[in-house]
Amino acid sequence: MQVIEKVTQMQSLASRWWREGLSIGFVPTMGALHEGHLSLVREARKHHDRVVVSIFVNPLQFGPKEDYSRYPRTFEQDKVLLEREGVDVLFYPSVEELYPEGFETYVIVEKLPEHLCGLSRPGHFRGVTTVVAKLFHIVMPHEAYFGKKDYQQYRIIERMVKDLNMPVRITPMPIVREADGLAMSSRNRYLTPAEREKALVLFRTLQLAEELIQKGEREALVLTEKLKTFITTEVPEARIDYVSFVDALTLEDVSHLQGHVLLALAVFIGSTRLIDNREFVIED
Ligand code: PAJ
Repeated sequence: MQVIEKVTQMQSLASRWWREGLSIGFVPTMGALHEGHLSLVREARKHHDRVVVSIFVNPLQFGPKEDYSRYPRTFEQDKVLLEREGVDVLFYPSVEELYPEGFETYVIVEKLPEHLCGLSRPGHFRGVTTVVAKLFHIVMPHEAYFGKKDYQQYRIIERMVKDLNMPVRITPMPIVREADGLAMSSRNRYLTPAEREKALVLFRTLQLAEELIQKGEREALVLTEKLKTFITTEVPEARIDYVSFVDALTLEDVSHLQGHVLLALAVFIGSTRLIDNREFVIED
């Protein structure tokens, strides 16, 4: 596996692959890799001649009070994991390489970021779309893989690619969970053992929602009230950011569950903000 740190070197290699007719699969990440990331890498490896993974903790997508400086960085370990998956290139640029002095161009998707995480993390998705657009221009992938763990991010990238006619296919992948149900996340490393236990409340909330919906409840307000009560009863110190039923395509709130709906959760356990979600397809 080759580690490339320079934009021009990555671009000339990708151009060469295009000339040779080789297909490129791409997985953008911020590192601190776990099985969730690796599931995307394996899917890329199955379908493409060349696989590129990027590791870049993107300062642009962190708010001033967020965890940019303490975000876990485990490069040596990540490298071993990616090597094992048969990745061809690990693209590992520095902040100066992607944002040299004078940088002032951004990619903004207008409406989709106005929901869910976008409300409590202003500017976050502008940072995501800008860096992903740059990475697409540098890595020139035929297909890029995104986890549904970050469902809103996936929908926003899908929108950006469509609206700007970027020649890349966006493929969503299912959420990978720990044995007990906790969605894997680099941020789980922040949790103390006691918080790790409490973090399970997110998954349990999704399960409760599933039960209530199966029993026939269709009113979003009734459901969200029950789910919020469940969270605060189970873990009184949990701080709920949102518990929302939204249209899975537009991410707009729904009042009555019908068709393709997403239940999305964001909850602080201690100082760690965790997210999780589940899709429902309701036909009756
Ligand atoms: P990061 O949080 O490192 O995630 C990289 C990719 O892995 C994303 O597509 C994310 O949805 C996926 N992923 C994370 N946990 C997962 C899980 N438990 N199951 C399945 N997929 C999972 O998302 C980012 O980085 C950044 O915003 C990025 C797109 C790289 C732009 O900076």
